[in-house]
Formats: sequence, C-alpha cells, structure tokens
Amino acid sequence: MTAIGPQRRPRRLRASAPLRRLVRETRPSAAALVLPIFVHESVTQTQPIESMPGVSHHTLDSLASLVDEAAAAGIGGVMLFAIPSQRDATGSAAADPDGILNRAIARAVAAADGRLVVMADLCLDEFTDHGHCGVLDERGGVDNDATLEAYGEMALAQARAGAHVLGLSGMMDGQVAHVRAVLDVAGYMDTSLLAYAAKYASAFYGPFRDAVQSDLQGDRKTYQMDPANGREGLLEAEIDEAEGADIVMVKPALPYLDVVAEVAAASRVPVAAYHVSGEYSQIEAAAQRGWLDRRAAHLEALTSMIRAGSDIVVTYAALDLAAWLSEN
Ligand code: PBG
Repeated sequence: MTAIGPQRRPRRLRASAPLRRLVRETRPSAAALVLPIFVHESVTQTQPIESMPGVSHHTLDSLASLVDEAAAAGIGGVMLFAIPSQRDATGSAAADPDGILNRAIARAVAAADGRLVVMADLCLDEFTDHGHCGVLDERGGVDNDATLEAYGEMALAQARAGAHVLGLSGMMDGQVAHVRAVLDVAGYMDTSLLAYAAKYASAFYGPFRDAVQSDLQGDRKTYQMDPANGREGLLEAEIDEAEGADIVMVKPALPYLDVVAEVAAASRVPVAAYHVSGEYSQIEAAAQRGWLDRRAAHLEALTSMIRAGSDIVVTYAALDLAAWLSEN
C-alpha cells in the first residue's frame, strides 16, 4: 500500500508569487499612512535628527515642500509636532495663534491644498519648560482639570489655524469630552478628534524626546498607561469613543498589537496605531549595521499593524513605504 500524504497542504497556495499575491489577506496602502513631521522654530534649514535617521527638523518652508511630497505620494495624512523657541510653565505658546505649531498648521493646510489630511499634536509637552504634558499643581503633580482648560484653548487655536484632525496625546481624563465641547460651542463641529486612547508609558519614545528636545525630568507614569495593562487599554478606548473621539489610537504599536486587535474588535470608529520613534529607529539602526533588510522590515511592521486591525498607521517611514507599496 502506498503511503498516504497529508490531506491538507497549505503550502499549495505559497507555490508562486502570483498565488501568494492572490490569496494575501492584508493589503496595506499609502492612503492608510500618516507621516509625523517636526517643525522647529529655531532652525533656518532642515536639520537631521540624529536619533531618527532619515527624519529632520523642518522650517515652515521645508514643511510645505514635505507636505506637497507626501500628497504627491498618495499618503493619507501628516501629523504635525512643533518645537518652540520659548517654553514656559503653562506652555502658553501652544494657544498663541502666532505660535509655531499653529503657523505650521496653516502652512501645511495651504500646501496640502485638499489632497491629504492635516493633523496636529494636541499636547503641552513641547511647550512647557518642565516637559510634562499638562500644567502642574503646587505639589508638582500634573493637574488634570487645569490641563483640560489649556487643551481647550490649544484646540481652538489649532481649529482656527485650519487643522482637520486634532491628535489628543496628553492622556488627561476627560480630554476628549472637554475639547469636543469647546470646539462645538465655538462652531468647529467639523474638526475631528483623534484620541491617543491607549497610550502607554513606553521606553520606545526615547528618540522622540530627543527630537523635541524635551526637558522632562522624571516620567509620565501618572498619566500614561502601565505597559502591563491590556484590559485598561480597552477601557480607555471605550471612554474616548463615548466622549466623542472620531478615531482612537493605540501607541506604541508592535509591542501592543494585542491591544490594537482588541480595540479594533470592540470599537465602532476607525482605529489607528502609532509606530513610534523607538520602533522606527530600531529598524534604522539595525539596517545601518547590515543586520536586517530595511525595506522588508518596515513593510513587515506595517503589514502587522494593519493585520492586527488598524485602519490607519502613523509612521516615520511613510514616504518610503508609499514608494515601496507602489512598486509592489
Ligand atoms: C506627546 C507625544 C509623545 C509622542 C507623541 N506625542 C511623547 C511622549 O509621550 O513622551 C511620542 C512619539 C514617538 O515616540 O514617536 N506629545
């Protein structure tokens, strides 16, 4: 009697490139990508950020060209961060219409010319001299409800500057409901809110803190989440959705794909994942040493985030990814 082989042969569909392409479950596209951009008030030409190879500090002019390039590449959106030349205890430059971030928003919206979505980071950490995401109480703790007032002012300034989506990244309780109410009363009911819903107190933000020249002493563990907590990530997303978030985000991405998958299963709004600076720079640093294939690693990371359930991926590799996707 001849030996009987396996009945099920999943390898059959892996036999050729056309077969693999036909049965592929996850098909990332440039439209899902958001490129973070750093605008620096004190630079007069683009300056490479050492801890993030391929990423630079931008002037308002170079911001405009980069937005144009991103739009031409078919990227879905840009997320703006800004480094002001002056910081103070309350982060007052954040709500100043002439503040660098608000000027950058107006510039990016003009450069985008309706071709992509302009998002702005709504958080005080780049603007405070102590580096925390909010204002401090007399004992040095971050004062949740006083910070909400500041976020409301900042949101109005960003909406007036023309931002399409505000990225609430400060992890204050009630920030979505507060900002939504302030915007609605002022007539900005069409300005969308992307909530950094499950944002973990992560070591992977290291290069970003370098990029924004953060003055932070200590850590953000009293407001960002404990990396050990998955269920709480779901709770945060649920609260933000109930408060009126239009999009909820999980951040960082790859170490938290379980949270991405659960949030995607439970949410009825689009889900974003942020492949943060440390995740990006790990790939870049290893690729520089020849230890991994940069293109393949970035594409695999992107595919994993989409496969886990994110509709939107924020990544510093967005421009390269868009080019690679168009060749694939
Ligand atoms: C806070 C903010 C941070 C990042 C995005 N928004 C830093 C932090 O929480 O310390 C990190 C992004 C990254 O690491 O790429 N405004």
